[in-house]
Amino acid sequence: MIFTFQMPTAENIILFKIVYQGQVTEIRTYPNQYYSLMTLISDQLAIPGFGLCSGMGSCGSCLVQISNGYHQGTKNVLACAVSVNDELAGAVVTVPKQF
Ligand code: FES
Repeated sequence: MIFTFQMPTAENIILFKIVYQGQVTEIRTYPNQYYSLMTLISDQLAIPGFGLCSGMGSCGSCLVQISNGYHQGTKNVLACAVSVNDELAGAVVTVPKQF
């Protein structure tokens, strides 16, 4: 993954929602502010047990459901494998209740 830093501007702000335990958190970020969706969720929601392997892709604890946005329909994905970019704009990310 190539990490490029972009300064936040009105044009590149990314808005989407995270749903966890029935609570909706509105996220306002910009491309690559976070290394991955997992790091964003860990920072914004601080869910114990989420992202146990720190993004190595080996624990499965960061499994989330993404719907709408760029991903038409609904997909289950590892949040550590999802870049924070405009593909998340308008998406609803649901963290399962196992935590
Ligand atoms: S943080 Fe372990 S698989 Fe994503």
